Amino acid sequence: MNNEIFRKELHKFADWIADYYENIEQYPVKSQVEPKSILKQLEKIDSMKQSDMAEIFADFQNILLPGITHWQSPNFFAYFPANASPPSVLAEMVASAIGAQCMLWETSPAAAELEEYTMNLLRDMIGLPKDFSGVIQDTASTATLTSLLVARERKTNFGINDKGFDGKTFRVYCSTEAHSSIDKAVKIAGFGKQNLVKIETDENFAMRSGKLEEAIIKDIDSGYIPLAIVSSLGTTSSTAVDPLRKNSEIAKKYDVFHHIDAALAGTALILPEIRHIADGFDLADSFVFNPHKWMFTNFDCSAYFVRNADDLIKTFTITPEYLKTKQDEKVNNYRDWGIQLGRRFRALKLWFVIRSYGLEGLQSKIRQHLKLAKEFERKMSEDPSFELLAPVQFNTTCFRYKPNGYSGDLDKLNEQLIEKINASGKIYISHTKLNGIYTLRFVVAQTNTEERHVLQAFDLIKEIAGGLI
Ligand SMILES: Cc1ncc(COP(=O)(O)O)c(C=O)c1O
Repeated sequence: MNNEIFRKELHKFADWIADYYENIEQYPVKSQVEPKSILKQLEKIDSMKQSDMAEIFADFQNILLPGITHWQSPNFFAYFPANASPPSVLAEMVASAIGAQCMLWETSPAAAELEEYTMNLLRDMIGLPKDFSGVIQDTASTATLTSLLVARERKTNFGINDKGFDGKTFRVYCSTEAHSSIDKAVKIAGFGKQNLVKIETDENFAMRSGKLEEAIIKDIDSGYIPLAIVSSLGTTSSTAVDPLRKNSEIAKKYDVFHHIDAALAGTALILPEIRHIADGFDLADSFVFNPHKWMFTNFDCSAYFVRNADDLIKTFTITPEYLKTKQDEKVNNYRDWGIQLGRRFRALKLWFVIRSYGLEGLQSKIRQHLKLAKEFERKMSEDPSFELLAPVQFNTTCFRYKPNGYSGDLDKLNEQLIEKINASGKIYISHTKLNGIYTLRFVVAQTNTEERHVLQAFDLIKEIAGGLI
């Protein structure tokens, strides 16, 4: 494709993207295709034959678009979001055009320095102390794994990196409500998943720190080595917050690394009035949250902060001859701050987003989401046929349909309800289990969600529920 055709295509694509955002509410939020139906259509195309962009794009529209779930729809209330925004999309376009690989300062000085700068901005925006340094990771899963590896090396004076495991058994602690990425990280880091100790939670799904301390003492008595506590600031099911201050005190007392997983809820810390919910979050050894969830920054972009960057770098650094540069002593080479060597230019979209909204603009959007979530919670609580199943701390409401006098299986009823809601294509919600109960989750965090979307969603849920029995 020569540059002239490329330029024409760019204009067409730009129009398509703007039209997509304008018309996004016309698409079914959750893709309605059957499993393998996309693959079957793809297999009928001769993709190895050279094609022009018009043909390729027609296939994208006809075959792939129906198989897209529209995460940017204002009617997307499922999981945790992966919200985006125009400044972020524009930055991604530029970053992909530049195609920079940001492994070393020298391979893209502006990317490295913008990353340092935006991480400092974010750190200040969420109220972490200045002794934290930040780096952008792809996902929270990677950041948590990174923390467990740093914890391992810190505990063994970087001995496992050097000599490997020597028969000691390390223990990691999180609550029964913590995200599965912690289980995965424990497996990958080589601790063995039976050495992940799941601490029970209280009536609000937050870790019981008394039980945490008991577990650590028991492990020490049994000859295990307590290594790391992973606290949740906003669990996936219900956005519960563990007792962060207490957990940091316990971590200090027993010389255990303390990592906080704030994947979604970390964004809310840009609101000073919210920070009391996360009391003590600034005392941990490391902290991760995802601007790619709730801060209008395209997936992927995880902001990972550590109190001791030297330990992080020492855990990961390896410098073969071909990666040595003259500036190594003076700059941040982010390849040393995590698992990957090659790195995308992610700081650009974050900087575009922060500058385009401004701190006040971001705060006002997050406040609006919190307000809308409260409104949804209020409507649910005022309706006797629904039951709330967890406190609404941030933007997530956990509920179920429980019609008066119904003697059937409520889990099955709610499974039917969510099936019908999502099949309508009008909104998309997801589920979890809390205390063994099948629970529906409604998360308000999409960039363009307004009050009308939340009110329509409530009416739709009520209408579909009413038609079930
Ligand atoms: C609390 C929590 N931690 C971690 C993750 C994993 O996030 P990522 O996809 O960035 O690895 C999630 C995903 O929803 C989450 O809710």
